[in-house]
Amino acid sequence: MKILIVGSGGREHALVWKISQSKRVTKIFAAPGNPGMKQLADLVDIKPASIIELADFAQEQKIDLTVVGPEQPLGLGIVDEFNNRNLKIFGPTQKAAMIETSKSFAKDFMRKNNIPTADFKVFNAAAVALEYFQKAKFPLVIKADGLASGKGVFICRKKDEADEAIKEVMLDGKFGQSGERVVIEEFLSGQEMTFMAVCDGKRIFPLATSMDYKKALEDDTGPNTGGMGAISPAPQISKDLFNQIMKTIIQPTISGLKFENKEYKGLLYAGLMITREGPKVLEFNARFGDPETQVVLMRLKSDLVDILEGSADENLFDIVADWDENVSGCVVLAARGYPQKYAKGQKIQGLERAKSLGVEVFHAGTAMGKDGPVSAGGRVLNVCATAPTLKEAMDKIYDGISFITFDDMTFRRDIGWSRK
Ligand code: AMP
Ligand code: GLY
Repeated sequence: MKILIVGSGGREHALVWKISQSKRVTKIFAAPGNPGMKQLADLVDIKPASIIELADFAQEQKIDLTVVGPEQPLGLGIVDEFNNRNLKIFGPTQKAAMIETSKSFAKDFMRKNNIPTADFKVFNAAAVALEYFQKAKFPLVIKADGLASGKGVFICRKKDEADEAIKEVMLDGKFGQSGERVVIEEFLSGQEMTFMAVCDGKRIFPLATSMDYKKALEDDTGPNTGGMGAISPAPQISKDLFNQIMKTIIQPTISGLKFENKEYKGLLYAGLMITREGPKVLEFNARFGDPETQVVLMRLKSDLVDILEGSADENLFDIVADWDENVSGCVVLAARGYPQKYAKGQKIQGLERAKSLGVEVFHAGTAMGKDGPVSAGGRVLNVCATAPTLKEAMDKIYDGISFITFDDMTFRRDIGWSRK
């Protein structure tokens, strides 16, 4: 089989790595990919948003299955374009991807289908939102309706913080069209976890659970990021909680979407808060999480291609999950300053020595420099490992990291547990 992976981050490198282990696969392309994938895939210079060019490429190269990493091409309708051309693709249609691309759609959908989530209101005008804050209970959470690369969420403890967030999102237009509408919701407390499942429209294939560390700095402080590390399984998961999540969240979501003619195929990502009243949805994503995918795929023993193709073919019948009993961890090596301003082009060294300790290093924001890889993004590398205990996995990862250097490299030392 020939496979095309769309995207260029650590998530996509992990997908390429896992897919390359399938006996069914003869060739992998990545568009645009990153230098870490080079030994496993041919890199194709097409951007994820260029959905027509991607479909042309898949047609010319007779690609058997295309796997979409990021949300942007899903929002642009890449799956619809491929479906129209009878090209096989893993992911939801534009309509079904609204579960991620419109927060107000997702919240209304959850309310209608009794899926537990924070209580909320939708606002289309800044003045009405500002008026609402006069009597609102704080803290509350303000979210830009559309895609904002994980930066459109504001947790406001007081009225002036909420006023400021509305100014940025609705009046100053920081996120463009994505901020013309906002969702304002109740603040939930508890522990967060990630639940991902592959779906084929009707059937659900749940993946191992995970947890990501969203804050930039240790002890969960600093600004929100795309994720600074992850572990699998989620520490708080039990059989009962797993069943409760399937029954109250994942199953009603898939059947509710089917009922609305938005059959959901692809990866459904539920970001959950485990509250005293049970699990509640913070957000849905229509794609694999990053860096959760890295830790989940480290533990998958089944053939990933069978699972992805089963989704695209609406045939997730006979797939059995085979998971490594070991736990896994991932630490993100970032450029100092991320998620705000940071330098690029820093020479990366020590990758081979780190890998010789048995860790996997997935590239995220890297590029090929004159004599080796250089940093090219905020999240630069993902160092991952599995072991019988979380402590052993994290020790292995941090030992591996001790060999890796680039100027201004920074990372959290408390992924998995507090190392202070
Ligand atoms: P989201 O992109 O909607 O998942 O939000 C990003 C992060 O903001 C989440 O991972 C949570 O840490 C936090 N967050 C979002 N919504 C809420 C909420 N209703 N209550 C508390 N924290 C939230
Ligand atoms: N790690 C969070 C996400 O992928 O949205």
